[in-house]
Amino acid sequence: MRQLENLNAFVTGAGSGIGRAIALQLAERGARVWVSDRSISLAEAVTKEISENGFQALSAELDVTRAKDVLSMADRVFETDGRLDILVANAGVSSMNHFLDLSEEEWDFNFNVNSKGTFLTIQSFARLMVAQDFLPGRQIRGKIIATASMAARAAAPLLAHYSASKFAVVGLIQAVAKELAKHRVTVNAVNPGFVQTSMQEREIAWEAGLRGIKGCEVINEYLSATPLGRLEQPQDVGLVVAFLASPDSDFMTGEALEVNGGAWIS
Ligand SMILES: NC(=O)c1ccc[n+]([C@@H]2O[C@H](COP(=O)([O-])OP(=O)(O)OC[C@H]3O[C@@H](n4cnc5c(N)ncnc54)[C@H](O)[C@@H]3O)[C@@H](O)[C@H]2O)c1
Repeated sequence: MRQLENLNAFVTGAGSGIGRAIALQLAERGARVWVSDRSISLAEAVTKEISENGFQALSAELDVTRAKDVLSMADRVFETDGRLDILVANAGVSSMNHFLDLSEEEWDFNFNVNSKGTFLTIQSFARLMVAQDFLPGRQIRGKIIATASMAARAAAPLLAHYSASKFAVVGLIQAVAKELAKHRVTVNAVNPGFVQTSMQEREIAWEAGLRGIKGCEVINEYLSATPLGRLEQPQDVGLVVAFLASPDSDFMTGEALEVNGGAWIS
């Protein structure tokens, strides 16, 4: 039997990049995955891909910054499936600027999606997860995983607002892990590094512009800052999230796992 057979999962920001890879990994292991994204067309494309691979998924349109929508989505999942076994709060955005030029709009944009969106997602689903039965044969009721960032461990120039919004995610998951432990719901995070996604493409262009260097020079700096010597792939993160979603990590909570080829220590 596959490790996540008969379980369901809900992933935010699953229409591209890391969220897509997480959804694919969870589905491959047997979970029925709700692929949610602010863009329904992106979510539907990933759902189609999962179905064509022979696994189970369904699409949902969800902007994680809209509190009412997140609450009603949690209700919809529980009305449909009766429970939620694995929640992945992955949706996130970034922008880049010199700290002295940073605008209030940029600060709010990053905090609204990365910090508030993660809070709304976890709270809306957790209030229902704490009341569900234990997973069959296990001592927990469900698992929550957030996508934070290496920038939540070691802040980087041009990313003060993004780093702060991701440090907030790690603070949040630690506090929530303590509060939900008595309900036997675990709460962990992953800290990806330089992952090849559309977010990274945008960041390379911004950083090159802000520093007056070429995009290929930015990429070379990413590579030399990564001891394992290659750019991270979305699947690298998906595989670790699959571990945090599996029974193998049932005694872990409050942990933010570094998944960045050692970049955070360099
Ligand atoms: N790419 C990296 O190098 C990197 C590194 C560390 C952490 N992360 C984090 O990983 C997560 C995914 O990033 P990615 O690189 O895959 O980005 P991406 O831009 O490729 O994909 C993000 C997805 O989230 C969706 N999204 C954006 N705002 C949303 C909202 N308000 N509600 C719902 N969905 C929304 C987008 O439509 C998109 O499908 C983010 O939390 C990001 O901060 C990325």
